Amino acid sequence: MDLYQGILTRRSVRQFTEQKISHSDIEEIIKAAQYAPSAHNMQPWEFLVIEDKEKLKNLRNLQGWTSFAQEASCAIIICGNLQEAFSRDKDGEKWDYADIDCSLAAQNLMLAAHSKGIGSCFCGCSPMPLVINGISEYFNLPEHIRPIAIIVLGYPQNTPPQPEDRFKKNKIHWELW
Ligand SMILES: Cc1cc2nc3c(=O)[nH]c(=O)nc-3n(C[C@H](O)[C@H](O)[C@H](O)COP(=O)(O)O)c2cc1C
Repeated sequence: MDLYQGILTRRSVRQFTEQKISHSDIEEIIKAAQYAPSAHNMQPWEFLVIEDKEKLKNLRNLQGWTSFAQEASCAIIICGNLQEAFSRDKDGEKWDYADIDCSLAAQNLMLAAHSKGIGSCFCGCSPMPLVINGISEYFNLPEHIRPIAIIVLGYPQNTPPQPEDRFKKNKIHWELW
């Protein structure tokens, strides 16, 4: 699949067939995620793969917009490793790049899945404190691991319709605003 066409035709998929995604395909799409750019090339990501039906079903209790995950082949929770992320906590500055790095990894992962005919949907986690805490507790995440995105994956039951043309020339600002 041509990369540009892949970017334009990826859609959020929320209805899946019962076909399972193979573990080799899961590893290949996670490999694509790990080729994403990251601040200072710290690659501060971890990938928690969930295939168990009960856990997939329970995601809706942890993040309210994930009810369709119960029909999915798997969900991959992309987590930031706060011991590895480019960050600062001194001189009145407190920040880290984990969310941004992991979001870039998420887009790579979803595009790689799309290139294999696998549908995906990004479901938000960070920066919502209740969701972060719920996911961390349920999946037993260590203190330095922040869940950032839940990517629900499966073979699409139908091809989602293409959206209206999203290209808006008035969003482009040249040189000065
Ligand atoms: C940060 C973020 C959080 C999202 N959270 C959810 C979610 O919780 N549940 C869901 O069904 N879709 C979620 N989405 C998917 C968006 O609804 C979807 O990307 C948007 O409607 C555009 O559709 P498209 O992905 O098909 O282009 C999220 C997307 C982003 C980027």
